[in-house]
Amino acid sequence: MQDSGGRTAEAGAVIADTPRATAPIFGREPELRAVLACVDQAPATGLVAVRISGEPGIGKTSLVNEIARRLRDRGCGVLASASDVLGKRIPYGAVVAAVRSLAEPGSPARAEALRALEVDGTEDGAWFGRACDRVVALLAELTATRPAALLVDDLDHVDDDSLALLGLVLRRVSAAPLVLVTTSRSHAGETGAEHLLDRVEQYAEVVRIDLAPLSDADVARIVETVLQSPVDDALAREVQQRADGNPFFVTEIARSLRELDLVTLDGNRARLAVSPDAIRLTRREAVLRRVAPLENETRLVARAVAVFRRVRLDQIPLLARVASLPEHTVVAAFDEMLHAHIVVHDEDRGYRFSHALVGEALYHEVGPAQRRHLHSLISARLLDDRAQGLPADLLQLAWHLAESAAPGDRVAVGVLAEAATGQVHRARDGRRAVRASAAAVAAQRTRARRAARLRCRVLARVPAGARGGTGSGRAGVVVRRGTPASPPP
Ligand SMILES: Nc1ncnc2c1ncn2[C@@H]1O[C@H](COP(=O)(O)OP(=O)(O)OP(=O)(O)O)[C@@H](O)[C@H]1O
Ligand SMILES: [Mg+2]
Repeated sequence: MQDSGGRTAEAGAVIADTPRATAPIFGREPELRAVLACVDQAPATGLVAVRISGEPGIGKTSLVNEIARRLRDRGCGVLASASDVLGKRIPYGAVVAAVRSLAEPGSPARAEALRALEVDGTEDGAWFGRACDRVVALLAELTATRPAALLVDDLDHVDDDSLALLGLVLRRVSAAPLVLVTTSRSHAGETGAEHLLDRVEQYAEVVRIDLAPLSDADVARIVETVLQSPVDDALAREVQQRADGNPFFVTEIARSLRELDLVTLDGNRARLAVSPDAIRLTRREAVLRRVAPLENETRLVARAVAVFRRVRLDQIPLLARVASLPEHTVVAAFDEMLHAHIVVHDEDRGYRFSHALVGEALYHEVGPAQRRHLHSLISARLLDDRAQGLPADLLQLAWHLAESAAPGDRVAVGVLAEAATGQVHRARDGRRAVRASAAAVAAQRTRARRAARLRCRVLARVPAGARGGTGSGRAGVVVRRGTPASPPP
């Protein structure tokens, strides 16, 4: 196993990252063309919002990664953030991640924006206005000579404070050649995210892209990539039908067929080795089949990892406690999962499931009461570690506390504020990031209360419950022009 242990608490305090580099994508050319056309037109239209939606696994993140790659190749400024359930709880985390992602670390405007976004306990009523000003200045600089893009993957997981800040900032830069690209799962409809997009729609053009299933030909290319051989039409069609053209399930089903020896080579072409009627593989089974053939104990460990979300090797003893299994059993199970590509290693994030959908399927196998119990077990242990001065992943701790602590729990609130502070510090200088220790927890209490007050103030600026329509839900690209309104000076 590769060792990711020995990392500092600061390294773990990443709450969101730019979308990861991924394998090449097939199809999606019309969607890519639509987004690039918006970028080309932005100098004439000003802000354009592109709203990408689609079911889990349909390829939203992959498309955003490709958009980022093409725009960077063109020399455009690109800010990108990818949030997850952990990040949603960190105030301003998504905005900080987006600013940090700018590939110009020496930019003074970037540095000033990060400084202004720091929740350091000295903030007053003007803090929010200053943070907005600095982010506006950064975007103005980026769009001064050419269009730029702000890519927000999984908008539904963006923290409320970032949504509030973006709501004001986007309006102020609405005349600039900026393209906002967001993704969200079709059914998600989080109020805060919807509200932001509804507001943007009042003064900017909105392009909706609902990702449709991939074509037979594109599915065939994915199957060929998985099987590493050309495939016959019947095999490609069978996978297409079972996966409904969803690339995540296409990959899983093709992999399952190979592992179950249900494909054979005919000449140099792969084909089904049995009649399609003999195959019992649905989309759900394709995901859980990844873990289903595992020994019972490995399955238990997989569920425990699902509660952790991310695991470092030095957390194996804790994983063993959570799974109620001996450590050596957990070590063997973990290696088995790694070998089966159920978990993968991320440079600075420890081990995670190869795709969130696998972790989600396992997480939901654990009942709610048991989940809460496990979260509380993990957070108690992580707090112990911190009290002893051992490295602890602040973000993870914040999440486990939020899932198990009583509402208003002071330690939980303190950790949340500290995680937000650590995120900005890390952007400026990793070595200066917050030290994980009991003393730090105590010192942060005042800061936490101030941060919580700030958060309330910021949220108070967002009118509650204003949720509008969510679009047609049809596949394809729909352009909707919002009512033009002049931005404030
Ligand atoms: N057009 C494509 N061609 C080939 N593979 C693809 C394509 N789109 C997505 N994939 C693969 O399918 C998997 C799921 O894609 P992705 O993570 O982008 O989906 P998603 O819509 O973002 O899912 P979620 O809603 O869970 O975030 C990934 O492993 C990705 O590599
Ligand atoms: Mg995604």
